[in-house]
Order: sequence, then structure tokens, then C-alpha cells
Amino acid sequence: KTIADLGDLSGRRVLVRSDLNVPLDDDGTITDDGRVRASVPTIADLASRGARVIVMAHLGRPKGEPDPQFSLRPVATRLEELLGQPVAFATDTVGESARAGVDALEDGQVLLLENLRFNAGETAKTAADRRAFTEQLASLADAYVSDGFGVVHREQASVFDITEHLPSAAGGLVESEVKVLRRLTEDPERPYAVVLGGAKVSDKLGVIENLLGKADRLLIGGGMVFTFLKAQGHEVGKSLLEEDQVDVVRGYLKTAEETGVEIVLPTDIVAATEFSADADHDVVAADEIPADRLGLDIGPDAARLFAEKLGDAKTVFWNGPMGAFEMEPYAAGTEAVARALVDITANNHALTVVGGGDSAAAVRQFGHSDDEFGHISTGGGASLEFLEGATLPGLQVLED
Ligand code: 3PG
Repeated sequence: KTIADLGDLSGRRVLVRSDLNVPLDDDGTITDDGRVRASVPTIADLASRGARVIVMAHLGRPKGEPDPQFSLRPVATRLEELLGQPVAFATDTVGESARAGVDALEDGQVLLLENLRFNAGETAKTAADRRAFTEQLASLADAYVSDGFGVVHREQASVFDITEHLPSAAGGLVESEVKVLRRLTEDPERPYAVVLGGAKVSDKLGVIENLLGKADRLLIGGGMVFTFLKAQGHEVGKSLLEEDQVDVVRGYLKTAEETGVEIVLPTDIVAATEFSADADHDVVAADEIPADRLGLDIGPDAARLFAEKLGDAKTVFWNGPMGAFEMEPYAAGTEAVARALVDITANNHALTVVGGGDSAAAVRQFGHSDDEFGHISTGGGASLEFLEGATLPGLQVLED
């Protein structure tokens, strides 16, 4: 169901679950507002239909009680700027402030509730433990719109249970994300290349397994590459390594060979003496990482190789940076992948999809605009699980 299926919303209180989980620096300044931007169209749409819009979201992983460093207040300010209309802010989620805020709403006005995860009931493991909180949330509104694509893989009160209590529909962001990601899972145009990075291979096991039967090429970078290099028998010095995944990765390399999926690993690595922008660093061959160094980016030769392997792709999914891109000496690998995707989007008319907060933040840090790519997903874990073919609880309940 979509928003149109909810009927006339004029004067009705609509709870919308957005994903406003943005990175903040130490002063509480938003360093990448992509998710806030992506949430605006649905909120604006609801307001323009005369709904009284109650936005709910989480920030970070507080421990089920109020914690000022995870307050959504800075996000309310940004949302207000982007929306071009006032956004009231409730200092709690289902308490007095929220109730007063909802009562004060007029048609077309917007209220943002404080971080959902300040309540243990939001993320509790069982539906029974989430129930009281879900009921309190539901009592604030007459209808529910699920628009936080980045959280649809979470079985949580505001994403999952709430649909039992209110007429529910998918918002425009969830709709458009699902539409694009389906093009990757159902008959992608070939060659289909997937670039995976980020720190841990253990976060990507499901997706790698699934892609070994679907993608034509799998390009691996980031911290997880060292577990691959180790599985090939190379020493990786002080680099990030998941010893317990080495055998699993060895199995992937074998399956890839059998199924004809090309796994592309970096040929060189930027290796530093420590995890710091000022550390001594050099480019070394990927199979010769010195014992006292740790790899922090793919090297220039690997960046060229990756760009070449992406050159003729018609479909690309990219999740996870190639290195510690926040530090200038280790940003080039991630930048090269971003550039390659921009090029093939323009030249090959390839469908390029960037998933995950870090990769999305990286492309913006390098000065690219979202429309240079086919799609920048707001979902990190959610887009990976979608690609794994997993059932996403937050989507499942909308279909049921
Ligand atoms: C994300 O950052 O991927 C989403 O906002 C979900 O956050 P979570 O992993 O803390 O549930």
C-alpha cells in the first residue's frame, strides 16, 4: 500500500517512520545530511495533503534511556531548513511533550519526536516486550507511513509492530528504494559488478554468498580485504583480520572459481605504521605487507585495476569504502571507485547503486552530487539484506 491508499489525510494525525540516523561530529553538527534530505519528500507530501505529521526516528544506539549525545534536536533544525517550514520538537517520544506537541499540531504542520531508542520498548527482543511502547506510539496517530528504508531490516516497534495498530502504507522513499534494488536482484543487466568494502567480512557473509551465484565480478577492498588476502596464503601484518572467517573466505574463493564469478582483489595496498593520518605510509604489494604495518587503503595500481573492471559494467552495486577515507592519505582508493561509478553512469548508462552510510558520505565528501549516480540508497544494512534475498520484516508487514 502507498500513501494514496490511506485516503483523505486532511486533518488526520499521521506517524511517519523516517531514517534520520545521520553522522554527527563532536559539536553535534551533521556531517552528512543525505538521510534527512531523502526523508523530506514524503514528509512534505503528507503535509501538503493536510495531514498532521508526526515524524519518528532513531539516532545511534543509545541504551534504551535518554542520552543527550543521541538527541535528535540538531536533526529537527536541519529538517526544518530542508522542508522550508517549521518543525516542532518533542523532548520525549510518547510522554507529555509528545502528547502536547501532537495536540498542538494543525493541518499541514510537522512535529519530530525525540529519539525512539530512548525507550527500551523500541528495540526489545520480543513483541511482548515491545507491546506497551508500540501501543503508546500508535495512540498518538490515526495512520502510519513507513518511510525509513534504512531500518526496514529491523524488527522494532516503530518499524514492525506498529502496523498492527494503525492503517499503514509505504512512503515514497521505501517505494523507490525497493524499486531500484529489485532491478539488482531480478535479472540485472550484465556485466553486473559488485564492489564491497568496509571493515568486516563477517557483516557481508550473506551478501557474498548470494552474489557468488548472481554477480559477474566481485571487487573487494576495505578492511575486509585482509581476510581474503590471508585466505590466499599471504601475510597481512597488523592489518584488520578476522581469523575465524579465513576458512569461510577460502570457501568463497573456491565457489567463485567453480561458478565462474571473478573475485578481484587489490594488487597493492597503502600500508601505514599506525591508524593515523600522520603515520608513515607507503604503497606495498598486496602479498608483501610488512609485519609492522597495517593496510589502510587499496593502492594506486589496484585503483586502476578496479576502475578497469568496472569500465564495461552495466549494473554496479557498491557498499563500503575501500579504505579509511576520512583520513586524506587513505582516501584515494574510495575516491577512484566513486569516480569510476560516475563515469560508467554517464558513459555506459549503467545502473549504479551506492548503498550504506559510509559510502554515501564518501561520495559526497569527494564533491559528487547524488544525481551523478543511478541511486544512492539510504540503507546500509537494509540494502545488503535486500541483496541477500532476506525477508525484511519492515517490508513484509507492509505486504501482509
Ligand atoms: C543504519 O544506520 O543502517 C540504520 O539507521 C539502522 O541503524 P541500526 O543499525 O542502529 O539499527
